[in-house]
Amino acid sequence: MEWNIRDKKVLVTGATSGIGLASAIELARMGADVVLVGRDPNRSASARDQVASAAGKEVSFLLCDFSSQKSIRALAKDFLERHDRLDVLINNAGGVNKTRRVTEDGIEATFAVNHLGYFLLTNLLLERIVKSAPARIVTVASVGHRRGTMDFDDLGFERGYSIMGAYARSKLANVLFASELGRRLTGTGVTSNSLHPGAVDTNIWSGAPGWAKPIISVLLKPFFLSAEEGGQTIVQLAASPELDGVTGRYFEKKRAVSPAKLAQDTALGARLWDVSAKMVGL
Ligand SMILES: NC(=O)c1ccc[n+]([C@@H]2O[C@H](COP(=O)([O-])OP(=O)(O)OC[C@H]3O[C@@H](n4cnc5c(N)ncnc54)[C@H](OP(=O)(O)O)[C@@H]3O)[C@@H](O)[C@H]2O)c1
Repeated sequence: MEWNIRDKKVLVTGATSGIGLASAIELARMGADVVLVGRDPNRSASARDQVASAAGKEVSFLLCDFSSQKSIRALAKDFLERHDRLDVLINNAGGVNKTRRVTEDGIEATFAVNHLGYFLLTNLLLERIVKSAPARIVTVASVGHRRGTMDFDDLGFERGYSIMGAYARSKLANVLFASELGRRLTGTGVTSNSLHPGAVDTNIWSGAPGWAKPIISVLLKPFFLSAEEGGQTIVQLAASPELDGVTGRYFEKKRAVSPAKLAQDTALGARLWDVSAKMVGL
């Protein structure tokens, strides 16, 4: 039967602002049964109210701080206790860090939130997703992955940190993860794809260093997409019947394109998987 997003159970992380919120609103309007994830109770309740009023139905949220593996495990447990299926997982929560920060788990925060957050949550929910097949896993990466490197001897940039270096590495990890996951899910009826949403006017840019802010607001912002336009890229991967069975691909401007050469390295993807599994204790 052709894929139809109506009544599908959809979990959206980073749903309190930006493209996560915009895509949650659109998917709920299309009839999906959307569950939001946020880290702050007030912002999460406000997002829930916005999605509920746009869709004209009840919407729930769960709390998680993706910089804490304990919190991710609690989120997965909460979700599995409350919901018996998961048709679409949207890994979207993420951000940048101006200076190097280490999480309570001892991991550089950009890699921990942007990559290990997706990795651990997906793995904890995977059995339920596979049972719900046909199902989809959508991973929000970035064109910034093209500038990413993967140095397993210094994954956390202890030898020299830069905001863009850390962000690009985490986004390269997103693309590698999504395609490795696609390979691992062959034959299950679950697809896994990643995407770049475009340059979108969201809160993420407030994390840029001070010197970059005038450049962003004067030179770049006029060309930015709105959160709604950026959210459409997620909606497409989650909802489009044309993408039935399409897996392991990376999308820009709503088209499957080749990612960076490093992101196509299947041995690197497999190694990243093993290293990530150790880092999250799987
Ligand atoms: N905007 C762009 O131009 C662009 C381009 C390429 C890729 N992306 C990707 O798009 C995704 C969404 O970003 P956005 O642009 O929509 O930015 P945003 O408006 O800042 O939204 C980020 C979302 O992630 C949540 N989040 C961040 N850190 C978290 C943590 N530790 N635990 C739980 N939730 C956390 C935020 O929660 P709070 O509301 O609590 O902060 C928010 O809901 C990110 O993965 C980003 O890398 C964005």
